[in-house]
Amino acid sequence: MSAVASDSAASAQIREVAVVGLGIMGAGIAEVLARSGRAVVVIEANHDFLARGLARLHSSLDKAVARGRLTHAEKALIVARVRAADSIAAGAAGADLVIEAVPERLDLKRAIFAEVDQACRADAILASNTSSLSVTALAACTRRPDRVAGLHFFNPAPVMKLVEVISTVLTAPGAVQTLSALVRDLGKTPVGAGDRAGFVVNPLLLPYLNHAAGLLETGHASREDIDKAATGGFGLPMGPLALLDLIGLDTSLSILEALRAELGGSRYQPTPLLRRLVEAGLTGRKAGRGFHEYGTAGAAAAPAGDMSHNAAPGPPPATVALIENGDTALADLGNALAAAGLNVVPHPAPEAGLVVVAAGPGRRVLDAALASGRPADVVGLHLAGRPGAKPELAELIVTHLTAPGAVAAAGALTAELGLDAVTSRDRPGFLAAAMIYPQLNDAVRMVEDGYATPADIDTAMVLGCGYPRGPLQMLDDIGPATVRDVLSAMHACTGDPAFAPAPLLAEHAASGTPFRS
Ligand code: CAA
Repeated sequence: MSAVASDSAASAQIREVAVVGLGIMGAGIAEVLARSGRAVVVIEANHDFLARGLARLHSSLDKAVARGRLTHAEKALIVARVRAADSIAAGAAGADLVIEAVPERLDLKRAIFAEVDQACRADAILASNTSSLSVTALAACTRRPDRVAGLHFFNPAPVMKLVEVISTVLTAPGAVQTLSALVRDLGKTPVGAGDRAGFVVNPLLLPYLNHAAGLLETGHASREDIDKAATGGFGLPMGPLALLDLIGLDTSLSILEALRAELGGSRYQPTPLLRRLVEAGLTGRKAGRGFHEYGTAGAAAAPAGDMSHNAAPGPPPATVALIENGDTALADLGNALAAAGLNVVPHPAPEAGLVVVAAGPGRRVLDAALASGRPADVVGLHLAGRPGAKPELAELIVTHLTAPGAVAAAGALTAELGLDAVTSRDRPGFLAAAMIYPQLNDAVRMVEDGYATPADIDTAMVLGCGYPRGPLQMLDDIGPATVRDVLSAMHACTGDPAFAPAPLLAEHAASGTPFRS
């Protein structure tokens, strides 16, 4: 049999699917399955949750109709395939596959797996959409551990193209093959992973999100700038704080705790601000407020820890001193400033209204500021963006000696250059690299551990999180040596071993070998 024929035979075995739990993920998964033509039973004991989940499903389909992606008749057919049940006994008996999508609590999931195992046919496959808990522990609650696996969708499930298929040491290859074929039939891409906390994506994504929350909490940059640095500096579809709000702060906290319990290390230690927001019930979009506010009238109150460096914009200075400090784009910067009509001088002359240090993310701006003799007038400027491409983002770096007027003047100057700007403290990596390079290092560690290949990691982050390029490809594009040097500076500055370049990264940097071909 050809691969395509065997795939369609395997996915055809799954005609009816029961989805247990109708939160954001359960509703999205039910929609994807019903759209594929399968009968779907949504099992939710709580009537409010059921009503909310079904409303979410309807509104997602309505959006597709409004955008011309579905007709009213197609929507009606999809809705007709979905049936609700208020108990596992009532809903799971006829299912070929059951997907559990309840909150991330092992005790709750274990109880559900034991109950589903009793209610289902012996040949049914049981899957969990868990983000980070042990699938093996769930399999152990059943009499069919060979037919238990993880099926991890990404939020929003109707949109994101990745599904991680997790096999335990007990999962039969046939069950994995059936689930992978089903994922392909849903128009998505399966990436296989072993049963390790968080699988491929979450151990890379969550520490990065947590670090971003920590940068906000410690006043390194404002929440808007943190999000802008990720989208403008690296082309990511959302900033980390907006993504935490989408995933849910409570879910993110649970995942971090599971990662920390299994993998250890400071990268998984939830930042106190994340915990406090969860305790306050500010769990993100679903609550109307997390790091940002959603759909509420009136001005948004800045959350605790939002200490913006951004000052009110002032006029651009007529004369600017431009001093080199490790940024190779100095000549381009000088030309751009001159083209904007500014008089550029190469030393901190008295007539210069602002002293700009063309800064590299591995070097402290303060040293150049002190050497200039006018530290209050010094702002570091780093142009971030894809190597070789036109920079899209200006990073303004403020030392503890920089005067607010200099920050405002630098903001006016970047506006004159037509660049979006973010402001951060004078710490290695500045803002964009400080957030993203540690994630690249984590990806290298995952390769080093033999858990996933560079190609699988890149596929997972592109399809699961909408990255324009995967982390290993990004690393190759930036250059392993550049990333190593910035990480070494971050490590030296913070003393945090999590920032130490992974040995495999150091090797690639030394030999100049890329991770992708
Ligand atoms: N449900 C259904 N469809 C949705 C949707 C939702 N909640 N949100 C957006 N869409 C659809 C839109 O209808 C639109 O569809 P069409 O192209 O058919 O018209 C499409 O997605 C694009 O939407 P928008 O134009 O409104 O918005 P956008 O271009 O800004 O994209 C996004 C929105 C897809 C969410 C994008 O910002 C993105 O990819 N963000 C990254 C999301 C991410 O990283 N997800 C993974 C989180 S980690 C996780 O889930 C795992 C875990 O265990 C925590």
